[in-house]
Amino acid sequence: MTEKGLREILAADTKLSDIDGEAGRLWYVGYDIADLAAHATFEETIYLLHNLELPTREQLNRLNTFLVRERELHPFLARMMPTLAQNASPMSMLRTGISASSAFDPDGWDDSPEAEYRKAMRLIAETPTLIATYHRVRTDQEVVPPHPSLSHAANFLWMLHGDEPSDEDARVLDTTFVLYGDHTMNASTFAARVVASTLSDMFSAITAAIGALKGPLHGGANEESQKMAEEVGKPENADAYVRERLAAGKKVMGFGHAVYKTMDPRARVLKQLCEDLAERRNQPQWYQIFSSLEQATFEQKGLYPNVDLYAAGVYHMLGIPTDLMTPLFALARMAGWTAHVREQYADNRIIRPGSEYVGPKDRTYVPIDERA
Ligand SMILES: CC(C)(COP(=O)(O)OP(=O)(O)OC[C@H]1O[C@@H](n2cnc3c(N)ncnc32)[C@H](O)[C@@H]1OP(=O)(O)O)[C@@H](O)C(=O)NCCC(=O)NCCS
Repeated sequence: MTEKGLREILAADTKLSDIDGEAGRLWYVGYDIADLAAHATFEETIYLLHNLELPTREQLNRLNTFLVRERELHPFLARMMPTLAQNASPMSMLRTGISASSAFDPDGWDDSPEAEYRKAMRLIAETPTLIATYHRVRTDQEVVPPHPSLSHAANFLWMLHGDEPSDEDARVLDTTFVLYGDHTMNASTFAARVVASTLSDMFSAITAAIGALKGPLHGGANEESQKMAEEVGKPENADAYVRERLAAGKKVMGFGHAVYKTMDPRARVLKQLCEDLAERRNQPQWYQIFSSLEQATFEQKGLYPNVDLYAAGVYHMLGIPTDLMTPLFALARMAGWTAHVREQYADNRIIRPGSEYVGPKDRTYVPIDERA
C-alpha cells in the first residue's frame, strides 16, 4: 500500500520557502520567519517572494504604486457581488471572484514572464477588495472604496470597517499576512503548481488553490479554532472540552501539523500578538482561552498549536468576522501561491504522479443480463 498523503515525496525544487519540521523553523528565501515578522511589511514580503531579494526603497515604492492602482474591482465583479453575497460562502465568493477576474485582466492570455508578474500583482491587489466588498454588501453597508495612501493591511481594515485603523492594529494584521505569506508545498500551493504544470493560466491555478485552502484540514482551521474557543467560553472549561472532543474521535482544530513536530514558529509569533492584543483591547479572556486550549491539548495528546490557533484569536479581536478568517489566509497566501506558479512556469514539467493499483485483476467482460 502507498503511504497516504505524499508525505515523503519532493514535488519540486523551490527557492521560495523552507521548513525544518523537527526544529520548528521556517524561512522565506533564507530569512527566518521570526525576523521577517518582527521587521518586514507584507509588501516587502510580496517583493521578496517574487524577486528573491528584499526591495530597495525605490523598488518598494514602485510595487506599492502598482498594487494601489490595481485595488479597484472591475465593474463586472462589483455587479456580481450582490448575488455572491447573498448565495455564496466567503471562500466560494473568492474562488468565483478570482476566476471571474481572469476575463478582465489587461494582459489577457499573454503568458510572458512580465505579464505573469503583473497578473500576480493584480491578484494580490484585488483580493482584499473582493473580501471587504462582499462583507459590506452582505451586511447592507455602503461599499468603502480602497484608500490609496494606506498599506495593504490597513486598507483592508479601512474597507471592511469604514474607518481608519490605528497603526498598532494595522501592523498586527500586516504581521499575520507576513506569517501566512508562504509555506512550501502545502496542499493549496501544490494544487496551484499542478494546474500551472499543465501550462494552464495563473487564474486557473489560483482558483484551484483557493478550493484546496477552503477545507477544514487546511485554511478552514482558523475559523474552526475560533468556533471552538467560543464553545469553550471560559479558560477553566478547556481541559474538559479537549477531553470530550478527543474521546469523541474529533480533531482539536489549530493543532498538529503534517511537517512540524514541535511548535509551529508562526504560532509562537501569533501567540505573542494575541497576548499583546488581548491586553491592549482589555479582553484577556481570549488569550486565556486559547492558551488553556494549548495547555490541555499538549497534556492530553502531545500536540502543539499550528499557525491557525492564535491567528483566530488575533483576527477576532481585530473585529474580523469568523467566516472571513480563511479568506484572510487566502489574501496573504496569494503572495506565495502566485510566486510558486511563476516558479513552476519558469522550470516546468507536467506533474503526473503514479498510483499503486490495488483493485481486482484480469477480469473478463460479462454481458449485462448475465451479471448477478
Ligand atoms: C494538520 C493535520 C491535517 C496533519 O495531519 P497528519 O499529518 O495526518 O497528522 P499526524 O500524522 O501527525 O497525526 C498523528 C496522530 O495525531 C492525531 N492528530 C493530529 N492532529 C490532531 C488534532 N488536531 N486533534 C486530534 N488529533 C490529532 C492524528 O489523528 C494521528 O492519530 P493516530 O496516530 O491515532 O491516527 C492534522 O494535524 C489536523 O487535522 N489538524 C487539525 C486541523 C488543523 O489545525 N489544520 C491546520 C493545519 S496548518
